[in-house]
Amino acid sequence: MATIAIVGAGPGLGFSIGKVFGQQGFEVALIARRRSTLDDMVGRLGELEIPAGGYQADIMDRASLVQAFKDIAANHSPVEVLEFSPAPRGPQPGLVLAGPLDVSVANVQPHIDFYVHGAITATGQVLPDMIERGTGTLLFTTGPSSVEPSPAMGNVGIACAALRNWVLNLHDTLASKGVYAAHVPLSLSADEADPETIAPHYWNLHTRGEGAEHLLSGDVLRAAPRTEES
Ligand SMILES: NC(=O)c1ccc[n+]([C@@H]2O[C@H](COP(=O)([O-])OP(=O)(O)OC[C@H]3O[C@@H](n4cnc5c(N)ncnc54)[C@H](OP(=O)(O)O)[C@@H]3O)[C@@H](O)[C@H]2O)c1
Repeated sequence: MATIAIVGAGPGLGFSIGKVFGQQGFEVALIARRRSTLDDMVGRLGELEIPAGGYQADIMDRASLVQAFKDIAANHSPVEVLEFSPAPRGPQPGLVLAGPLDVSVANVQPHIDFYVHGAITATGQVLPDMIERGTGTLLFTTGPSSVEPSPAMGNVGIACAALRNWVLNLHDTLASKGVYAAHVPLSLSADEADPETIAPHYWNLHTRGEGAEHLLSGDVLRAAPRTEES
């Protein structure tokens, strides 16, 4: 068996991605801060006979994230897929939105910590083993401001664009090592943002292993087929 580790796993996209990969034979390791939500998701995956574990960690607390991956390594098969899609639901210290004229070092740094340093830390826990095995997939999800500047997301966009830049470089650098890395910007209206519709695309990205960036818009979701066979 292989494991998918989902960093920032909540009842929306994270859970649906876990379900899709679990139905394809993966173990599912979910990382988030709230124990109650993790337990609920692990229970729901268990009802589908998907082996799953919930690991409490805060992306802003690097040590807790590293520990979560140590626990995952102890409890699961090797991590074959890392999916990074945290969403700061509700207030989080420092994670505020600022327009271009209000951008400051103080309101950009937390987003860099969250998106860039979080992704680098998570990746560092699994990538050496992937390179050694010559196999693995790294998928990093952001919102549209990573590719399309949006004044309302003046500070967040800086961090998400930086994450994107790193991932595109990773893609090129890892191609010769058997590891697939891709950036997945979601650009969806509220009506289109159905996790159950979005999640199968992540399976398809993993199995195809092609392309440094896959923007998932409403048109893309409507045009694409559902989950392909492994
Ligand atoms: N309009 C669009 O284009 C669109 C639509 C939907 C989603 N998205 C993107 O898709 C991604 C996932 O969205 P979603 O809400 O459906 O995901 P989700 O998997 O339902 O939730 C993400 C989870 O991230 C966790 N999280 C937040 N802060 C964290 C932290 N500091 N450390 C660890 N975990 C943390 C939260 O759980 P805890 O609170 O328990 O930590 C939250 O439940 C995001 O990148 C979002 O921007 C974009």
